[in-house]
Amino acid sequence: MEKLLDVQNLQMHYFTSKGAVRAIDGIDLTLLAGETLGLVGESGCGKTSLGSSILRMPSPPGRYVSGKILVEGRDIIPLSEKEVRKDIRWQKIAMVFQGAMNCLTPVYTIGKQMMETLNVHKEVPKAEAEALIKEYLGYVGLPAEVMTRYPHELSGGMKQRAVIATALFLRPSVVILDEPTTALDVIVQAEIINLLKKLKAQFNLSFIFITHDLALEAEVADRICVMYAGRIVEIGPNADIFGKQGPAHPYTQRLLAATPRLFKKVEKLQFIPGTPPDLIDPPKGCRFNPRCDRAFARCHEEVPPLEEVEPGHFAACWLNSHS
Ligand SMILES: Nc1ncnc2c1ncn2[C@@H]1O[C@H](COP(=O)(O)OP(=O)(O)OP(=O)(O)O)[C@@H](O)[C@H]1O
Ligand SMILES: [Mg+2]
Repeated sequence: MEKLLDVQNLQMHYFTSKGAVRAIDGIDLTLLAGETLGLVGESGCGKTSLGSSILRMPSPPGRYVSGKILVEGRDIIPLSEKEVRKDIRWQKIAMVFQGAMNCLTPVYTIGKQMMETLNVHKEVPKAEAEALIKEYLGYVGLPAEVMTRYPHELSGGMKQRAVIATALFLRPSVVILDEPTTALDVIVQAEIINLLKKLKAQFNLSFIFITHDLALEAEVADRICVMYAGRIVEIGPNADIFGKQGPAHPYTQRLLAATPRLFKKVEKLQFIPGTPPDLIDPPKGCRFNPRCDRAFARCHEEVPPLEEVEPGHFAACWLNSHS
């Protein structure tokens, strides 16, 4: 299958006055045409940082330290901002930002905000732009009159639909969805998920779907990528990680044990003691070692590599390692 994205040894750090926050610290990742890659992990593990890095838009004071982001074979890190705007951002890769629906400007109509997004990237005559906005509102199931409404006149689900329509304007092939349903009730969440599935087929999209909700990921993703403290600790097919085989990394096992399930009796919901580490001074060796009850001497000293535990399923843990 065609590789749309190929992230190689990516490091992106936030250079703060307290030191460098190593939010993305050596990530290798591919995205295949047509797939939904689910990105999970606790708060602060670097999911949004990875998404915005792939969009070539790390938030300040973030800077690339090393690595490549190949988009259809071309490394986008060395490109100028002008080149990125012309060819890459929103044209090939778009992102629905975390909490975007709550960041719509209250004093402008939805139509005006969508128009501004369009104008930043493409000179389109007003009448043509309006027709385009109506067309895209239609794709996300909103009536054309939403154009004239203000954000406070829309429900959360409607606002999220408008945000999704805006992301699709320039026909990207990859859409990064950062917690797209977290603030919505379960019924609206289901509607948005169904809409995303429809749009994916209609526009031939590939998704990077970021959420901390593992149950939702089990429903939508083809492959699951688990991040911990700026690194990937496990990545593999949905059927392996959520199936009989189960996760190979103790962190993913603990995350899954902490996920409530409706139809399966779980003895007791587990929690993971402690918190993710400070990324200015992360622990030596495996970054999960201070919280792992199975850690042994090597885990405190050496970084475990991602190794294949079964076909297409990789984990970075000395317990499974052959090296
Ligand atoms: N602009 C910034 N400046 C400095 N540090 C930042 C910045 N943005 C994120 N960080 C830090 O980078 C790390 C990763 O944050 P990020 O927002 O990528 O995590 P996340 O996995 O998306 O978390 P959440 O689930 O809460 O959205 C955290 O330690 C965070 O404090
Ligand atoms: Mg985030």
